[in-house]
Amino acid sequence: MSLTLIAAMDKNGLIGKDNQLPWHLPADLKFFKQQTLGKKILMGRKTCESLPFPLPKRENIVLSRNTAFIKEGFTVINALDDSLLKEEIMVIGGSTIYKLLMPQANAMILTRIDHEFEGDTYFPEIDWQQWLNVRTTYLPISEENKDYNIAFEFYQRIN
Ligand SMILES: NC(=O)c1ccc[n+]([C@@H]2O[C@H](COP(=O)([O-])OP(=O)(O)OC[C@H]3O[C@@H](n4cnc5c(N)ncnc54)[C@H](OP(=O)(O)O)[C@@H]3O)[C@@H](O)[C@H]2O)c1
Repeated sequence: MSLTLIAAMDKNGLIGKDNQLPWHLPADLKFFKQQTLGKKILMGRKTCESLPFPLPKRENIVLSRNTAFIKEGFTVINALDDSLLKEEIMVIGGSTIYKLLMPQANAMILTRIDHEFEGDTYFPEIDWQQWLNVRTTYLPISEENKDYNIAFEFYQRIN
C-alpha cells in the first residue's frame, strides 16, 4: 500500500478559500501534475465540486456520504474500503480528507508557498515526530515562477 498526501499551503498552512485554491500558481500546478499523472487520485466531494472537470490521465475518485452524488468522469465512493487502501493512492484533499487519511498515509508531498494569503481552509495539524523530510527542492522567484518563492518538501513516515 502507498498512500501519499499531496497539498500546497501558505506560510500559515492555509490551503483553501471559498472552495477554491487561494492562489493561481502555474509552477505548482505543473509540479502537482508531474507527481500525480497516471495515478489514482482521491479527493473529497467539495474538492471535486471545485474542479471544472476530472484531472486528465488520472483515475479521479471522490469520497462522499451522499449516495446520489454523481459527476461525469469521477468515480464516487461512499466509504473507504480496505482494498482501495492497498493500492497506490495520491490523496489530493481537501482538509477533511487529509485529516481523515493522515493516520494511514506513509508519505506527504507539501508545496510551501512563501506568502500569507486570505482564506478559510487549513491543512490539518501535523505531528512532526511522525515524519522525516527526505528531500526538499526549491523554486525561487524566476521567469517560470513569477510571484512567490516555493519549496517542494517530501516526507516519509517514520516507523
Ligand atoms: N491547497 C491544496 O493543496 C488543496 C487541495 C485540495 C483542496 N483544497 C481546498 O480545500 C477546500 C475543500 O476542503 P474541505 O475540507 O472543505 O472539503 P473536502 O475534504 O474536499 O470534502 C469534504 C467532503 O468529503 C466527504 N467526506 C469527508 N469524510 C468522509 C467520509 N469519512 N466518508 C465519506 N465521505 C466523506 C463529504 O462529502 P459529502 O458532504 O458529499 O458527504 C465532505 O463534505 C477547498 O477550498 C479546496 O480548494 C486545497
